[in-house]
Amino acid sequence: MALLFKSTYDDSPSWRDYLREHIPELEVRTWQDVGQTSEIEFALAWKPEPGYLRQFPNLRVIFSLGAGVDHIFADPWLPADVPIVRIVDEDLSAQLSEYAIHLILHFHRKMSYYFSCQTHRQWGEPGRTVTSQATVAILGLGHVGSDLARKLRDLGFRVNGWSRTPKALRDIECYHGEGGLEPALHGANFLVCALPLTRATKEIINANTLASLSPGAYLINIGRGDHIIDRDLVTALAQGRLAGAMLEVFRQEPLPPDHEFWGDPRIRITPHIAGDPNAKTAARQLAENILRTRRGESLKNVVDSIVGY
Ligand SMILES: NC(=O)c1ccc[n+]([C@@H]2O[C@H](COP(=O)([O-])OP(=O)(O)OC[C@H]3O[C@@H](n4cnc5c(N)ncnc54)[C@H](OP(=O)(O)O)[C@@H]3O)[C@@H](O)[C@H]2O)c1
Repeated sequence: MALLFKSTYDDSPSWRDYLREHIPELEVRTWQDVGQTSEIEFALAWKPEPGYLRQFPNLRVIFSLGAGVDHIFADPWLPADVPIVRIVDEDLSAQLSEYAIHLILHFHRKMSYYFSCQTHRQWGEPGRTVTSQATVAILGLGHVGSDLARKLRDLGFRVNGWSRTPKALRDIECYHGEGGLEPALHGANFLVCALPLTRATKEIINANTLASLSPGAYLINIGRGDHIIDRDLVTALAQGRLAGAMLEVFRQEPLPPDHEFWGDPRIRITPHIAGDPNAKTAARQLAENILRTRRGESLKNVVDSIVGY
């Protein structure tokens, strides 16, 4: 029984060690040393090249090395009938919430303004910010979005959430479906995208959706770069409809050096670091699914290939 680790970076030693704590006999191979392709039963993959995974005739499960699975579904030649399983990890959701909350508080308390005052040795103007009057719209109320929504609610923000199917979360205005998008965004001061990338959510942040926000709102994208129409974002910033954007994911990663986002002072960039899967905690659920496969039991956290997440 062998698991193949296939990623854009080699973090296989820590995954191997943590997986073996649960299944000592599990052989973990990397893409640099695959061995007999027929011996690979499990793949743990991040951005595999299109067609790569179909070379393993006995593949039983594809594990995404992350919460998103768009990088797997991007492969038009995926092996048929092999389930795709994602990571669901409280630690990952907590990291993403921490990232978004830090930024919302930064913008809400006008910290960039005060920091720039310091640069000019100026005593800045006091400015009152009333948290209970600030609305955060969160697109996606899954593991990440709902964790963030609860934490922002507990900090005193008004929170609107949007999902595909109906949700009920205490003291959070929940909207769903196409018809729920505009009301979820309407008048929001902050927009956080915590959606998976699917056919239905691609380019969901565009001139229309940005126009529903309160003038001078901020965007934080922790979903995927393809959720945004880049040109519409730049235009909304230039027109002042948006005061700023914090981008962490991009259509092309690494973001090309000549991309206009780099030089726009209203855009802040991080290199897809908001949430990093924790091998220690995630290995437990991977191992559980491997053992379930062996016992012929149903798997946990299998994604739905029809809806794409
Ligand atoms: N930047 C990073 O480092 C990083 C790290 C991890 C994850 N992420 C991103 O975060 C995403 C979300 O992760 P998650 O664990 O929260 O996923 P999840 O648990 O699957 O939740 C996805 C949420 O999006 C909603 N949704 C999906 N399609 C929709 C549609 N067409 N209309 C409205 N709502 C829709 C779902 O609605 P239902 O509840 O009705 O199903 C659900 O609430 C990942 O897919 C990935 O893109 C980024």
